[in-house]
Amino acid sequence: MTTKRVLTGITTTGTPHLGNYVGAIRPAIAASRNPNVESFYFLADYHALVKCQEPERVQRSTLEIAASWLACGLDPERVFFYRQSEIREIPELTWLLTCVTGKGLLNRAHAYKAVVDQHVAAGEDADAGVTAGLYMYPVLMAADILIFNAHEVPVGRDQIQHIEIARDLAQRFNHIYGREFFTLPEARVDDATAVLPGLDGRKMSKSYDNTIPLWLPAKDLRKAIMGIVTNSLEPGQPKDPDSSHLYTIFQAFADPAETQAYRRALIAGIAWGEAKERLYERIDRELAPARERYEALMSEPERIETALRHGAEKACERSRAAIRELKHAVGLRSIADVGSKARAAAKRKSDTAPKFVTYRERDGSFWFKASDAAGAVLHVGGPYDSPQRARDAMDAKRAELGFG
Ligand code: TRP
Repeated sequence: MTTKRVLTGITTTGTPHLGNYVGAIRPAIAASRNPNVESFYFLADYHALVKCQEPERVQRSTLEIAASWLACGLDPERVFFYRQSEIREIPELTWLLTCVTGKGLLNRAHAYKAVVDQHVAAGEDADAGVTAGLYMYPVLMAADILIFNAHEVPVGRDQIQHIEIARDLAQRFNHIYGREFFTLPEARVDDATAVLPGLDGRKMSKSYDNTIPLWLPAKDLRKAIMGIVTNSLEPGQPKDPDSSHLYTIFQAFADPAETQAYRRALIAGIAWGEAKERLYERIDRELAPARERYEALMSEPERIETALRHGAEKACERSRAAIRELKHAVGLRSIADVGSKARAAAKRKSDTAPKFVTYRERDGSFWFKASDAAGAVLHVGGPYDSPQRARDAMDAKRAELGFG
């Protein structure tokens, strides 16, 4: 059975929230425990630069995200856990891929196109304020994936097009350079993974500003949960679990039996305040041990730095081997052997070719003779009455033997 390689990147711009935990961190860590899987989880810090030009924020976010994954139980010995920016081969591959990328393909990439469409709608210059980084984002992402020949890429729906672009570039490269250099990656969008509602009931997302940070101290977590919107039903009035955000969130943390009990409590008319209290307790029960580990890690960032460096070294063994092959494939290779095949063949031929000479016998007649590399006589021709005749006959013989 071949090992499946699963790879995903986390852009280092924000602070992890409960939605990230439920939707990405927790399932990824669980999946990484499968012995038939090689997991590549990395901090997409080059991608972060597309969105964020505040160095301290990028640095801080890198630390927080790395600490979060480790605190939640990611075992860096078992997976490849690294910073994208430490793998030099990723930008190298980005360029190789850039050169097989149709510009039109990038024009149609959603993230870029959305910005352009907004500008056009507002009557502005289409590319106003658009960096080439935003434009090239999908190519860099393809390099992330293809450098390790990942089979599967767990992502949110918004990233599906990026995986399609990666497949497309892999295919083009394979086609142009004539071999299956790259495995075609598949997007994996897990519908079973909970999508957590945020404070306002919409999907919890940084862009809606409705998140609950993952590592709030317990009392702040409680306060945040108390702020989740509910309807105005009074205590004692039955509440519909299926339209309650509290229930959706509870379900993402609890086992089926606990969830059933919560459901019954809502139907029985539990007060919203009490329902929130129970939700807080359930979430805190799961997060408290990890929170302690998180705080310990955050107080010793050098441990995280070491883990990431180590992860990068491990990953680099793979990426270095890959880029060597790819650069060779496109013609970025030693020039020392240019034409060496032709030269070697010529040399073999001259080493084995018979030697031809003309000479004159004492009686005044003209002759030629062919001898092999070891000096043994292969052929003698003559007599001829002029040196020219002897040479002509010799050339004819040479041609006849295939050495003309
Ligand atoms: N673009 C992804 C996101 O915003 C992050 C990312 C970068 C990524 N490189 C990747 C995800 C490679 C999967 C594979 O979520």
